[in-house]
Amino acid sequence: MRFELDVDEFERLADLIYQKAGIRFEQKKIYYLAKRLEKRIAALDLANTEEYLRHLKFRDHQGYELQEFLNSLTVNETYFFRDFNQLLSFAEFSLDQIVERKKSTGDQTLRIWSAGCSSGEEPYTIAIILKEMVENLQRWNVEIIASDIDLNILEKARQGVYMRRSVKDVPPDYLTRYFTQKAGIFKITDEIKEMVTFKHINLSDRKQLRPCRDFDFIFCRNVLIYFDTISRKKVVDHYYLALNNGGFIFLGSSESPSRINPAFKIKKSANHMVYYKE
Ligand SMILES: C[S@@+](CC[C@H](N)C(=O)[O-])C[C@H]1O[C@@H](n2cnc3c(N)ncnc32)[C@H](O)[C@@H]1O
Repeated sequence: MRFELDVDEFERLADLIYQKAGIRFEQKKIYYLAKRLEKRIAALDLANTEEYLRHLKFRDHQGYELQEFLNSLTVNETYFFRDFNQLLSFAEFSLDQIVERKKSTGDQTLRIWSAGCSSGEEPYTIAIILKEMVENLQRWNVEIIASDIDLNILEKARQGVYMRRSVKDVPPDYLTRYFTQKAGIFKITDEIKEMVTFKHINLSDRKQLRPCRDFDFIFCRNVLIYFDTISRKKVVDHYYLALNNGGFIFLGSSESPSRINPAFKIKKSANHMVYYKE
């Protein structure tokens, strides 16, 4: 028998997902949702969506099942050195500005947050860039915090093991230096792995966001495109608070932080706009 999800059930699930994760599912995504829901219903050996909704409401007190369901819904597409131009402006412009400013005040800390890090390609890319660009990096106290809502993808990120398509844009000499390679499998080296701390953080949960503060750089690329205007603004407003003065924010190249929160200032670097907190 073919699994069906009616519009009312879809709306109830979509509301739940929105409240929990800030992600807005439009009705055109009904089949996407139905496919993943069918798997969860089978895994729990339930009869239908009504039973599943009841399970979430009355039996899932710790939220484990809702988390499983969310894990199955997230879009985790990512790869190393994604959006190369934007990373160039980080590597050659904003990073230099922060490093020079901190050197002049004797502050040797660098704090970076990759929010919505998926399987780790983004924070590991940032770590490689720091290795390449910051002189005497060993003298700096570097923290790269990488977070995601999806527990399964965080586990993958911690392993740091990738297929060829994830590393297709890695410059060849970095591939040799920062990966070990065997039978088409690429493993990130321990020196890079140790620079990144992975955390489970839901960007729609105010309580979880509150301690995330004092960053010099925040990367949240290709994450907020799944949020609606209201939940996107809440997250970007937090990023403003969470950045140190002079700190930079990187959203996806089609997303403009200052359009979401006009307090962010814009500078032009080479052929890219960079956004920062004054
Ligand atoms: C398309 S990936 C982007 C990965 C990487 N930032 C990049 O640009 O390549 C989007 C990630 O955002 C995560 N995500 C979606 N909603 C989230 C939320 N409410 N809190 C935290 N992470 C979330 C997803 O689990 C997914 O791994």
